[in-house]
Amino acid sequence: MGMPRPLLLAVALMAATAVVVVDGQLFPTFYDATCPVLPSVVRRGMAQAVQKEARMAASILRLFFHDCFVNGCDASILLDDTANFTGEKNAGPNANSLRGYEVIDAIKAQVEASCKATVSCADIVALAARDAVSLLGGPSWTVQLGRRDGQTANQNAANTNLPPPDATLSDLLTRFSAKGLDARDLTALSGAHTVGWARCTTFRAHIYNDTAVDGAFAAQVRGKSCPSAGGDGNLAPLELRAPAAFDNGYFKDLVARRVLLRSDQELYGSGAGDGTTDALVRAYAANATLFAADFAAAMVRLGRLALTGKSGEVRINCRRVNS
Ligand code: HEM
Repeated sequence: MGMPRPLLLAVALMAATAVVVVDGQLFPTFYDATCPVLPSVVRRGMAQAVQKEARMAASILRLFFHDCFVNGCDASILLDDTANFTGEKNAGPNANSLRGYEVIDAIKAQVEASCKATVSCADIVALAARDAVSLLGGPSWTVQLGRRDGQTANQNAANTNLPPPDATLSDLLTRFSAKGLDARDLTALSGAHTVGWARCTTFRAHIYNDTAVDGAFAAQVRGKSCPSAGGDGNLAPLELRAPAAFDNGYFKDLVARRVLLRSDQELYGSGAGDGTTDALVRAYAANATLFAADFAAAMVRLGRLALTGKSGEVRINCRRVNS
């Protein structure tokens, strides 16, 4: 008998970061009385953005992950750098890579028009990420609400907490475990790479140097989007067949060793670990419904890394603290 999951999460978190999670302070009806239009405003904003560019759904999903892994899901990722403030946008994993800030700004403006100074930027990102996934045909889930916005950001933590594309399995497990997330959460959440795009610079080493990659696939990507030198910013879809459909294709690709990121391939066939991630990859590849359910549950757990109660504030402009 281990500790119950929420307790484990809180203990792991207190050890790892200053963010305190009190399970139960987030709840789905948080804005029912104060901003009943919130879900429909966010949904409409996301639908418009994704209609304009399908990739934006992937970008917003990643934005949520990069927010939650640094100081918790407190919208710290949205704070702009100023002369005397260094934010997270220019941290290594985010610079020239993370996208979607303008979409959140536009949704926040719409929300402010109906519900002044009421809804946190952090909750808007959490709702937008849920809508992003469902707009691409993936699962939906009930979003826990009541997050507060942080009043500071941490570029150093963004550089150290966010996993790099050459992370080993044990590195990935350690980073997720520091956030109270286990191997099942890691594997399910990695399924986000069924959508979106990556730059050549993040996957060059894998498709040129690694043996755990299908030869024909590597040759195809080398020829099409990633020369051995130059073209660092060239994009390739993380899931070759359907980069704008949220399905279980990513796990089929892992089994066939046809993925771009070395860190992704680590989940399957690396021979490291106790085989948990290998078994889950096979299960998700065979069962799209299981993946959808586990992904939704893991997104809810990821979203619990939050400031609540009287901590932080409700930012008016997501790009800067109120005063
Ligand atoms: C497990 C460790 C992870 C690593 C090492 C990782 C790494 C990366 C890298 C290197 C890229 C390409 C970025 C670029 O070239 O600009 C990327 C893209 C992406 N990541 Fe991850 N990621 C991880 C987990 C996650 C998780 C947990 C989520 C969401 C739940 C996520 C969602 C995405 C999405 C949707 C994209 C495409 C974004 C776009 O097209 O704009 N990733 N990731």
